[in-house]
Amino acid sequence: MTAPSNAPKLDRYWMPFTANRQFKAAPRLLAEAEGMYYTSDDGRRILDGTAGLWCVNAGHGRREIADAVGEQLRRLDYAPSFQMGHPIAFRFAEELGDIAPGGLDRIFFTNSGSESVDTALKIALAYQKVIGQPGRTRLIGREKGYHGVGFGGISVGGLVNNRRTFGPLLPGVDHLRHTHDIERNAFSTGLPAHGLELAEDLERLVALHGAETIAAVIVEPVAGSAGVLPPPAGYLERLREIATKHGILLIFDEVITGFGRLGTAFATEYFGVIPDIVTTAKGLTNGALPMGAVFASRAVHDALVQGPEGMIELFHGYTYSGHPAACAAGLATLDIYRREGLLTRGAGLAQAWSEAMFGLKGASNVIDIRAIGLMAGIELAPREGAPGKRGFEVFVDCFNRGLGVRVTGDTLAFSPPLIVERSQIDDMVSILGEAIERAA
Ligand SMILES: Cc1ncc(COP(=O)(O)O)c(C=O)c1O
Repeated sequence: MTAPSNAPKLDRYWMPFTANRQFKAAPRLLAEAEGMYYTSDDGRRILDGTAGLWCVNAGHGRREIADAVGEQLRRLDYAPSFQMGHPIAFRFAEELGDIAPGGLDRIFFTNSGSESVDTALKIALAYQKVIGQPGRTRLIGREKGYHGVGFGGISVGGLVNNRRTFGPLLPGVDHLRHTHDIERNAFSTGLPAHGLELAEDLERLVALHGAETIAAVIVEPVAGSAGVLPPPAGYLERLREIATKHGILLIFDEVITGFGRLGTAFATEYFGVIPDIVTTAKGLTNGALPMGAVFASRAVHDALVQGPEGMIELFHGYTYSGHPAACAAGLATLDIYRREGLLTRGAGLAQAWSEAMFGLKGASNVIDIRAIGLMAGIELAPREGAPGKRGFEVFVDCFNRGLGVRVTGDTLAFSPPLIVERSQIDDMVSILGEAIERAA
C-alpha cells in the first residue's frame, strides 16, 4: 500500500508509552474529532470509548472551549504566576472551589497529573515539617498504583514496568498490597466484597516503620491504569481511619476519577471519604489544554501559608501554573459540565452501563468484568507465555473496526465521554465482543 502523499513522516517523533517501531510500521492516526467520535487520517469514524485518554469528559470539539481559549490568548497569552498573577487563574480557582472534592478548596495549579502528584507529595512533606514532624519523610503508595511518571509518582506508583528501569527512585517509600483479587472478587457487581483487610497494610507499615516516619499515603480511589479496580467495600473508609489515627495525610489521586467519571463530581463524594489532598488533571480542561490541579484542605494550606509575611511559603511551582489559556479552557469546561449536568450524568447511566458490560460475561477468555460509574475493565486470560498479547490484538482489532478502547496488559478499559448515549454503549460492547471472539 502506498502512503498518501500528505502522510506525515514518522521517524523523528519519539512517542510516549508506545512500541514506536511497531506503531510506525502500522500507524493508527487520529485526524479529527467531534462529540463521541474520532475520524482517523484515512477517513474512518472511530467511537471514542476512552474519552481520549480518560480526559475528554464533555466530548470532542466543544466550540465554547475553543472560543474561550482563542479569546484569552488574544487578550493575555501568558503572564507569570510567581509573585504576579492574572485574574483568570483566581477566577478558575474560585469556581473550582465551589465543587471542590470534600470541600478541599485551596487549589494549586499544575500542568498534568504527574505534576499534580509530585506537587501533592511535596505539599505533604512540607506540611509535616511545618507542623513540627520533620521526621515524617516516608511516602506510602500501593502496588499496581499509577501516579504518573515523575520521580515522585513512579516511586509511590506500583506498575513494575514504569519503575524498574529508572534506578533507586525516592528513598523511604513503601507500598500497600494491591486489591486485585480475581479469585475472590471476579465479576463483582458493585464494590468487591473481599479485600477490606488489605487496608490493614497501612497499620502493618506503621508498625514496621513507625508512624513518626510517615508523611502521607496516596491511592487512586479506583485504580485506573491497572485495569479499573474498584476498591473493596469499606477499604477507603478504613484507610482514612488508620491515616487519621497516625497523623498520616491521605492523598486521593483523582486524575481519572475526578470530574464526573463515577457519576459524582469526585470519587471523594462517591465513597463519602474525605482525604487531605486530592490530585486532578484529566477532565479539568476537557483535554483541550494540559492542566492539573491539586486540592488541599484548609488545614494543610493554612499550616503552610504562614510565617513571616513577605516570605515565599512553598518553594514550588511551574512556569505554566495557572496558564491563562488553560484557565480559560477550564472555565469553559466547567460551564459545560454545569449546563449539561455532566458531573452527575454517569449516576443515571451507571446501572445500564454495568449491565451492558456484564453482557460480555461468558465471552471467550473473559475472566473478570469490573464496572463502576462510567468506567469499566474487561479482563481477558492472557495467551500462554505471552501476557498482554491477546489484549493488544483486541485493541488493534477494535481500532480497525471503529472503536477506541484502552488496553493495559490483557484488560480492555472503557471510560467514554460523559455525553455517551445508550446506543453507543451497545456499540462499544458489540464491537469489543466480536473482537474478543476473533482473538479467541
Ligand atoms: C491516577 C493517575 N495519576 C496520574 C496520572 C498522570 O497524569 P499525566 O499523564 O497527565 O501526567 C494518570 C494518568 O493516566 C493517572 O491515571
